[in-house]
Amino acid sequence: MQKPKYHAFVCTSSKINGQQKGFCSSKDGVEIVQNLVEEIEERDLNDSVMVTNVGCFGICSSGPIVVVYPEGVWYKEVAVDDVTEIVESHFENGKVVERLEIK
Ligand code: FES
Repeated sequence: MQKPKYHAFVCTSSKINGQQKGFCSSKDGVEIVQNLVEEIEERDLNDSVMVTNVGCFGICSSGPIVVVYPEGVWYKEVAVDDVTEIVESHFENGKVVERLEIK
């Protein structure tokens, strides 16, 4: 396996006990990660973008949170409808979606 160019961590409020219960999961966190994976597959970006489902980042009231490396960009209040823009702008064109960025 080759190392991906981008690694996106999506908060779905996954707990250590296996439950998905928390702010980001109540705000479509699971749907966001599913749509992100689908969009990446449709655009044939599987080799350059890895998506990982994670637990709480500790800033729940700003969720759902998506964190992207190597830049260390933290996106806040991500909605299902924002997924396409993140994929197009950030992963295809290398341009951070500033309106969602935590600065
Ligand atoms: S549950 Fe997502 S940041 Fe806390």
